[in-house]
Amino acid sequence: MAFHRLQILNRQIQPNSLVEMAPSTTSPSSPILSSSPIDVKHPDLVIRQATIPERHQTWVINKESWAGILSENAYYLREAHISSQDLTRNGGITYWILVDPAAPCDGACPQSPDHILSACEAIRKPSLIVRQDGEVEEVICWCIGSVYTAERHRGKGYAKTMLQLLGHQLKEFRDPSDPKRANLRVGFSVLYSDIGKKFYAKIGWQPHQSSHISFPAKLPSSVSSAKVKNVLKSDLRALCAADCTHVRRLVTRSSFPAGLKARCVQFPTKEVMDWHHAREEYIGQYVTTKAPMIKGAWAAITQGAEYPPKEGSEGLDAVWAIWTHDFGLKKLVFLRLHIPPIDKSNQDAAHQALRQVVISAVREAEAWGFKEIISWNPTDATENAVASVFGKESEGGYDLVHREMDSIASLMWYDREEGSEEVEPEGIEWCVNEKFAWC
Ligand SMILES: CC(C)(COP(=O)(O)OP(=O)(O)OC[C@H]1O[C@@H](n2cnc3c(N)ncnc32)[C@H](O)[C@@H]1OP(=O)(O)O)[C@@H](O)C(=O)NCCC(=O)NCCS
Repeated sequence: MAFHRLQILNRQIQPNSLVEMAPSTTSPSSPILSSSPIDVKHPDLVIRQATIPERHQTWVINKESWAGILSENAYYLREAHISSQDLTRNGGITYWILVDPAAPCDGACPQSPDHILSACEAIRKPSLIVRQDGEVEEVICWCIGSVYTAERHRGKGYAKTMLQLLGHQLKEFRDPSDPKRANLRVGFSVLYSDIGKKFYAKIGWQPHQSSHISFPAKLPSSVSSAKVKNVLKSDLRALCAADCTHVRRLVTRSSFPAGLKARCVQFPTKEVMDWHHAREEYIGQYVTTKAPMIKGAWAAITQGAEYPPKEGSEGLDAVWAIWTHDFGLKKLVFLRLHIPPIDKSNQDAAHQALRQVVISAVREAEAWGFKEIISWNPTDATENAVASVFGKESEGGYDLVHREMDSIASLMWYDREEGSEEVEPEGIEWCVNEKFAWC
């Protein structure tokens, strides 16, 4: 299998044999992987970080597919805007292109764009790995997106070559821009395939659970208003901090079923949510002149639950959703649905709280003229709450969709250095695999 082959090759390579990575993303002489240690179709080609003119050129090339409802210029501005958020600035996002080093190519010259054979980007996310033996490791995850080959270059193996090189190279691409995080290992990389499950699996990104629940943005007449607190931008810091504390405890304390070697998770941080919201606010203002103010809904499970949660809290006394507005597809999408552990003592109250959050999401979607609400990889509790509002799936109340072609959550695992235990990709659980982790 290609995956195992890459793993073996990873072990043979000393980190120093890779050209040292600089944080700069602007120089045409950005470092490159001088020769490929991987068996690729185009061993003479290399990947390197795109210069600023080249970045722009990749947007010119891919706008046909991804500008959506934005005009050409608005699309370029959107891409620049979301690349300057807390999550993405200072090397948080890196832009990669596949080029022929032998071909004359001036990185500052977008007038000769043919030298970009394929392109993509990668966003750095704070993450955690927990192993079967209880070891907990803070890591970086690179989230790869915007994989694109210009039409005239397609079908020649360029995307595949670029991704094979990048998947390998990201393993050693730590965090040059932040001294506090410089020592963090890259534990895994992810991408979200819109071309099914096979292409990326063949080169090492294994498909994981990719389902969602979809319910209509119209309440049955019998359902009354929701009793929730609207989540505003200013509340996100406290909510995300509590949720990250909760997620950390969840993945570190839950027992490991037989066969499971390791768990990994991206943290649902405020910076991650802000990046999604920068995108929705930009498109919202472009399309409607208004940016959505309501970022989610919070409902108490116990009396006296505090809003927003106090510092150090795990938020176990409440349920909340943080969502994003998709103006192109007219959907409200849950980025994260925080549900504390449910047992007999809190199940009725948790159900009621979750139901209120569902109802308020419908109200929000309705207010924007949207058609549906989406929540990725829903739990039974979520499904029950939706069913309590809309009726059973079998009666058309909602849809539970197992995606086969689009947004397939796919993961490449990076084993540690030689001598450490190797983890098979099928022994990995990707926890809290919800929309916030997408890029
Ligand atoms: C998908 C894409 C990046 C492939 O680029 P490419 O340089 O032509 O890819 P390669 O030549 O390396 O590999 C072609 C492989 O991609 C597969 N592929 C291409 N488009 C596909 C599609 N729409 N659905 C499924 N598979 C597809 C081919 O079947 C082929 O598979 P094979 O290696 O098993 O024969 C390119 O078609 C593209 O830019 N498409 C539009 C944007 C897009 O969909 N990007 C991917 C987002 S996840």
